[in-house]
Amino acid sequence: MSHESHLLQTNPRNTPPMAGAFHPVRVIAITGGKGGVGKTNVSVNLAASLAEMGKRTLLMDADLGLANVDVLLGLTPKFTLADLVAHRCQLEDVLLGGPDGLLIVPASSGFRHMAELSSAEHVGLVNVFSELQRQLDVMVVDTAAGITDSVLTFCQAAQDTVVVVCDEPASITDAYALIKVLSRERGVDRVHVIANMVRDPNEGRKLYEKLARVCERFLGDVALHYMGAVPQDDWLRRAVQRQQAVVKAYPGSPSARAINEIARLAARWQPPTAARGNVEFFVERMINRSVPA
Ligand SMILES: Nc1ncnc2c1ncn2[C@@H]1O[C@H](COP(=O)(O)OP(=O)(O)OP(=O)(O)O)[C@@H](O)[C@H]1O
Ligand SMILES: [Mg+2]
Repeated sequence: MSHESHLLQTNPRNTPPMAGAFHPVRVIAITGGKGGVGKTNVSVNLAASLAEMGKRTLLMDADLGLANVDVLLGLTPKFTLADLVAHRCQLEDVLLGGPDGLLIVPASSGFRHMAELSSAEHVGLVNVFSELQRQLDVMVVDTAAGITDSVLTFCQAAQDTVVVVCDEPASITDAYALIKVLSRERGVDRVHVIANMVRDPNEGRKLYEKLARVCERFLGDVALHYMGAVPQDDWLRRAVQRQQAVVKAYPGSPSARAINEIARLAARWQPPTAARGNVEFFVERMINRSVPA
């Protein structure tokens, strides 16, 4: 059986009735267009912070070709999404445990075919999550750089897309290009923005306003929402060296405090009440939930 057919078969049209017992899951995709803006560090720390607050949280590494989440958290995966795609294991086998009960779905590094999956396989990967027999409140998805099909599909499949920007002209133009493609091709009409590596709080707000201005001018139908700024912080770099989330290693540091504040905002978002489309994480659970047993 090809990889693709395996993933397509996992779309659980016949999910058992117990799926109706699950709560809806809030899925947040972290993206940015440009490489190196801090997507993975924001994802890892947002997820760790939500888990510390008591939210049942799952962090998926959706940078399928150059995985980093496991490295940032000092984890050694036995299986990764590459094994799942090659049907060597089930999604449950891929799950790793992190701080405060955080669940992690690691990806693989250095397998080029994983960075080149077809769009049907990306949709298949999204659908696999509907089968997960775990109670969850939030799922955080760390996407790759760029505007490839994988990035677009994982953002489309999430309820919320968070775009990370930093103070570089290419970050703003790449973020704009990404938002444009997401809105025109994938129907995403709402985007949250986090400014990372800022030198003062005003810089974050200014960056957001710069991006909001171009979006308003050229993409009238996309609503942008500012979530806050994470400062440039040597404590975060130190935590990366120690392979720990900065919110756990140095909770009093400026970056940890900023990310905890952003996590508190995200924790207040209402859970989804209904599925929006076909390509959506946990869509089967939501559909099943709305059908009385
Ligand atoms: N707030 C911050 N303060 C200091 N350093 C930071 C901060 N955020 C990120 N960095 C550093 O910037 C680098 C890139 O971060 P990260 O890997 O999270 O970016 P990314 O957007 O996920 O990159 P890629 O596009 O390669 O996936 C790392 O070396 C990280 O330590
Ligand atoms: Mg990354």
